[in-house]
Amino acid sequence: MESPIEPVREPGPVTAEAPSNIAFIKYWGARDLEEPVPFNRSLSMTLDACRSVCSASPLGEGEEDEIWWLDKPAGGRPGRPAAPPPAFVERTKRHLDRLRDWSRRTAAPYSGGFRIATYNTFPTAAGIASSASGFTALTLAATACMGFDLAPRTLSALSRSSGSGSAARSAWGGYVEWPDGDANAAVQILDERAWELCDLIAVVETGAKKVSSRDGHRRAESSPYFAPRLAALDGRLERVRAALHARDFKGLGDAVEEEGIDLHLIAMSSRPPVYYWTPGTIEVLAAVRCLRSDGVAAYATMDAGANVHVICQPADAEKVADRLEAQGSVKYVVRDRTGGPPVWRGGAEL
Ligand code: PMV
Repeated sequence: MESPIEPVREPGPVTAEAPSNIAFIKYWGARDLEEPVPFNRSLSMTLDACRSVCSASPLGEGEEDEIWWLDKPAGGRPGRPAAPPPAFVERTKRHLDRLRDWSRRTAAPYSGGFRIATYNTFPTAAGIASSASGFTALTLAATACMGFDLAPRTLSALSRSSGSGSAARSAWGGYVEWPDGDANAAVQILDERAWELCDLIAVVETGAKKVSSRDGHRRAESSPYFAPRLAALDGRLERVRAALHARDFKGLGDAVEEEGIDLHLIAMSSRPPVYYWTPGTIEVLAAVRCLRSDGVAAYATMDAGANVHVICQPADAEKVADRLEAQGSVKYVVRDRTGGPPVWRGGAEL
């Protein structure tokens, strides 16, 4: 029998930071949404600037969890604590229960409460995978607060058990693949030093999207194009993987943009349909095509939201950002790039 996981320290307050990620091959549709078990393999680039910061402090035996959300950050600093919406509190507490259950199978079961305070450095629920960074930061903070220092595979499997599949991929830096089927942890295929790319996020909407990605996953199978999508995906993922290994930016960009459009083709043809795009999305997509006809290599992809992630190489980043900022519907551009793994340190900073 495997020996139980040992803690590395006494329970105590910690602060964790976890990156978001942008999917080059998307997780969309699940055989089981609770686990979740995806229909297809997905592959993402871990981001650097878009991250969730989460402090966890231990409370007494049986004490109720306290959940705080910090206001939108101003100038990179978190704002004042606010009571989060009830759905957020409920989902967070359910995940903390799961983590306490997990600790019962370790050498140091934990049954106390947690005081959690968290914020994102970017707009929430707007197609920038806030559930990926949020649940990874929460999982890392709560387990470190219980005294553990998780290996990335364990962090990936536990973060994903929140129900957010993209959270499986935020446990690693660089380029990360999450297998389909029951395999429950994501694996790193290249680390963050292997190839630095930029993700310039053209923010055209700052509000939360109207249809959650959970509902989008649920409807995916109702699209008549879902089966052809699955049939094409292995080949597309192979192209992305090969381009990453060969540092072939055009090969990567072609496959990534094709995939970004395909996700929305499925969403718009689902029953009932889901329209994440707004006129701003279309304007940015046209600007990216214009950049390419001007000889600048830039490619677009969108998650479940209106905002457009424009992938380019560092040497072109300023030119691309200037063009995006010149579009009337772009409120601002988040300049991000390939990032490293999540981290934690002792002390509750929030
Ligand atoms: O992790 P979830 O359940 O929020 O789903 C993520 C869905 C996409 O962001 C659209 C794609 C992906 O793989 O990140």
